[in-house]
Amino acid sequence: MATFITHSTEETRAFGASLAQKTVPGTVLAFRGDLGAGKTSSIQGFLEALGAEKPYTSPTFVIMKEYRLSKPSETGIARVYHIDAYRIESPSEMEKLGFEEWVADPEGVVLVEWPEKIAPLLPLQTKTLSLTWLSDTDREITVEGS
Ligand SMILES: Nc1ncnc2c1ncn2[C@@H]1O[C@H](COP(=O)(O)OP(=O)(O)OP(=O)(O)O)[C@@H](O)[C@H]1O
Ligand SMILES: [Mg+2]
Repeated sequence: MATFITHSTEETRAFGASLAQKTVPGTVLAFRGDLGAGKTSSIQGFLEALGAEKPYTSPTFVIMKEYRLSKPSETGIARVYHIDAYRIESPSEMEKLGFEEWVADPEGVVLVEWPEKIAPLLPLQTKTLSLTWLSDTDREITVEGS
């Protein structure tokens, strides 16, 4: 377990950027945490570090947004699937959207906000990050297994 405290949105984005540099294709990252905990901010930093095309809007209404990188990352990531499961009513709804194909993409990385909503679909090797709101500007981020 590693725990980080960030003191601004920028620091949370920087955390996401460093995470991107260490992430290999085929990884599923689950971002747990309440409303405003910093899930999207972390993912925005992740996307920016990989040079994904802006804007990095959270796919709350469309559920999934796919980014095709113009150039694969140093670790070989070619596509990033950003999922916001907040509005999902049942895991089967996510299955119908094609979740298993995104997870099976050998050059892809899947980033999930509100993973609790689709828990039964998450692969066993999913890496979980837990974000907690501490104060207006401070957030705690715990990374499982690192
Ligand atoms: N240290 C910090 N880290 C991240 N966000 C911060 C921090 N300090 C302030 N903020 C602000 O808090 C909000 C965090 O929102 P963000 O969208 O990242 O959270 P979220 O976990 O994705 O929430 P939601 O569940 O609504 O999608 C943003 O407005 C951001 O600017
Ligand atoms: Mg969000």
